[in-house]
Amino acid sequence: MKHFLNTQDWSRAEIDAVLREAADYKRHRFGDALKGKGVALVFFNSSLRTRTSFELGAFQLGAHAVVLQPGKDAWPVEFDLGTVMDGDAEEHIAEVAKVLSRYVDLIGVRAFPKFIDWSIDRQDRVLNGFARYSTVPVINMETITHPCQELAHALALREHFGTEDLRGRKYVLTWTWHPKALNTAVANSALTIATRMGMDVTLLCPTEDYLLDERYMDWAERNVAENGGSFNVSHDIASAYRDTDVVYAKSWGALPYFGRWEKEKPIRDQFRHFIVDEEKMAMTRNGVFSHCLPLRRNVKATDAVMDSPNCIAIEEAENRLHVQKAVMATLARQTD
Ligand code: CP
Repeated sequence: MKHFLNTQDWSRAEIDAVLREAADYKRHRFGDALKGKGVALVFFNSSLRTRTSFELGAFQLGAHAVVLQPGKDAWPVEFDLGTVMDGDAEEHIAEVAKVLSRYVDLIGVRAFPKFIDWSIDRQDRVLNGFARYSTVPVINMETITHPCQELAHALALREHFGTEDLRGRKYVLTWTWHPKALNTAVANSALTIATRMGMDVTLLCPTEDYLLDERYMDWAERNVAENGGSFNVSHDIASAYRDTDVVYAKSWGALPYFGRWEKEKPIRDQFRHFIVDEEKMAMTRNGVFSHCLPLRRNVKATDAVMDSPNCIAIEEAENRLHVQKAVMATLARQTD
């Protein structure tokens, strides 16, 4: 049975088919692909876009979605095997996933890293726990990657450039400053989908400390080998922005300081000038700007950049609704 845990697990043909189906859902919002089905949306973390777009997407295709927040309105869950469960957790993922699978046809999971030990967080235990014990397809609603955001981003770029073929486009994923050390999920995902689409991709970050986990750097290299395009790392703002077609912004904490964020903060605070502003965007080739949202204005990007006609962040956010309908419909077809 196929899950949707990462786009990298899906072939380019499967990704293209989902994006075409999503474009169709954008034109004709409603359908019956999930008629009579149930969807469980399990949120271990907050959300505005993901929750709204999944709930409405399920509804628009004829399904009923149930939102569960373990530890808030559902029992806290244990994920490790062999644990003597005498702490906060009231039930084990084995029972949670198996029971939900008897009620619903799809399970979505959002579970951010705990931000203490990256060697543990990078195992994506919550998502993989659901995939292991569930007997229905599982969808990643953002853990250490954000594949639904990837699809929404790719669709927005295809719409903007008026073509499915993004090869030859120069793409910059730029790190930006943020007062808190954030998850690398969207950065991992942006690198993955941009290289998958065969673009010429630059990861712009302040120092080597801000490189992404080797798994995602390797995926980027593998994608270039399979799809063409290129991938390089730059710490130089001007050369990265020069003549680029796409600027995608994201903030994240430096992996070598994981769990020691008080030591990372003074380093991060030296790089507030990585903000996306009009001066930097003027160096691009009439470049398009986007971000996954939520975004702190005048911290990650200026008001002028966000309000510019070249900002497609709202379009990308809308696309979450359509790509997720296409993902849910695709997964549901395999069990029909
Ligand atoms: N981009 C995104 O996933 O938004 P939410 O965190 O609001 O769901």
